[in-house]
Amino acid sequence: MALYFDEPSRTFSEYLLVPGYSSAECMPSNVCLKTPLIKYRKGQEECPLTLNIPLVSAIMQSVSGEQMAIALATEGGISFIYGSQSVASEAAMVARVKSYKAGFVCSDSNLRPDATLSDVLALKERTGHSTMAVTEDGTEAGRLLGILTSRDYRVSRMSLDTKVSECMTPFDSLVYAKEGVSLKEANDIIWEHKLNALPIIDDAGRLKYFVFRKDYSSHKENPNELLDADKRYIVGAGINTRDYEERVPALVEAGADVLCIDSSEGFTEWQKRTLDFIRGRYGDSVKVGAGNVVDREGFLYLAKAGADFVKVGIGGGSICITREQKGIGRGQATAVIEVAAARDEYFRETGIYVPICSDGGIVYDYHMTLALAMGADFLMLGRYFARFDESPTNKLNINGNYVKEYWGEGSNRARNWQRYDLGGASKLSFEEGVDSYVPYAGSLKDNVTLSLNKVKSTMCNCGCLTIPELQKNAKITLVSATSIVEGGAHDVILKENNVNVIK
Ligand code: IMP
Repeated sequence: MALYFDEPSRTFSEYLLVPGYSSAECMPSNVCLKTPLIKYRKGQEECPLTLNIPLVSAIMQSVSGEQMAIALATEGGISFIYGSQSVASEAAMVARVKSYKAGFVCSDSNLRPDATLSDVLALKERTGHSTMAVTEDGTEAGRLLGILTSRDYRVSRMSLDTKVSECMTPFDSLVYAKEGVSLKEANDIIWEHKLNALPIIDDAGRLKYFVFRKDYSSHKENPNELLDADKRYIVGAGINTRDYEERVPALVEAGADVLCIDSSEGFTEWQKRTLDFIRGRYGDSVKVGAGNVVDREGFLYLAKAGADFVKVGIGGGSICITREQKGIGRGQATAVIEVAAARDEYFRETGIYVPICSDGGIVYDYHMTLALAMGADFLMLGRYFARFDESPTNKLNINGNYVKEYWGEGSNRARNWQRYDLGGASKLSFEEGVDSYVPYAGSLKDNVTLSLNKVKSTMCNCGCLTIPELQKNAKITLVSATSIVEGGAHDVILKENNVNVIK
């Protein structure tokens, strides 16, 4: 007879945290959000790779490109560069993150000299950047002819047909530096000449980077930056269970610090074969997570197969229609609670702590705190990060509202069929994800700071200063449908400017 679970599986919104005693020590500035990313012998050694904040960005085309990876590592988390692209282009993205020099920014706003002011305004709208490079052919590879900033034109006084070449600061009048200059030297030039941006060019006169005045100071304000021993940003990368023999060596060569098998359902022999290949070829030197699973059995299978961390969640993602299409999945809260118990059981038996990642379904910031309290070591988010400047999608104006695009890896748009692969030659003929918009929300830094301030504040209410303390001491209560209504603003007539009201 089939196995029945008599209790419904539950989602984060069905729970709340009950405050504990907060001593005077319990202030948000004392909270530490460090958390292990990969397995280790807890109590006997330090975890070799820890996150400074418990957030990683989803392995998705619409989320994790190189800009996201740099911005998130700056804040102390990790991006997993999406694997649904060619091996060469994924490895190149990883390599660019690893070779990124903090403070040196590649220009993504480039124009030809014959572009017009209306092209400038359109580019500014799309990228949000007001400093633009004018190059011979309008690409980053062309020779630099000049720079255009918002100081060079006045929309109210000039025709929109004015050519960029007529209003830019031409190369001959520019202050620039040669490739190889240090950030400190660049900054000195910026101060000396009262510049906002300094172009850095190579011997052929091509623009390599900009150094911005604001970036130099912000670089010094990132105490959580996640860096490797050579002071390069830490970055992850997605792999699949089909082409790992080719993809894994390329990503390792490119400098990926950690890999993750990206699959909608990970309790499979395909995952074990992938892990066996990696362990056979690299031993423990290559770190790799596996998943996704939603129960004890699935976790134990992947932990025993050698996964460095295990990802939890099926069907809870905001763009996911797996549950509707295939009827598989489990409420995210229930899945995390059960898998966390399995992780602790495995630790008691083996002395090895295999961190778990709650993947998908985080809607409100308090869901982050709940997921951690339920036992997640860190969280993977897609929709959350897709809303920020750093996601690799365009910002669009739809009926006066700014949005960004966000599409599932199982949608026709991403065509990441390996993620749903169950072997055999055939490709799947149905989608498990949708193509959508999410409201544009600004910069990653501002949003992550705000969300984590809320997490820290709640942790203090629970009397906890670390994630392990929260996992051990949290008091979590189920809420009834009626009390969810009581939790929002109710029985008042809301004024229109209430931006924080959950609708
Ligand atoms: P979100 O944070 O709720 O948007 O969920 C993101 C997670 O959804 C990802 O990390 C994936 O695990 C999962 N996901 C990504 N694309 C798809 C899809 O097309 N179908 C189902 N799940 C997806």
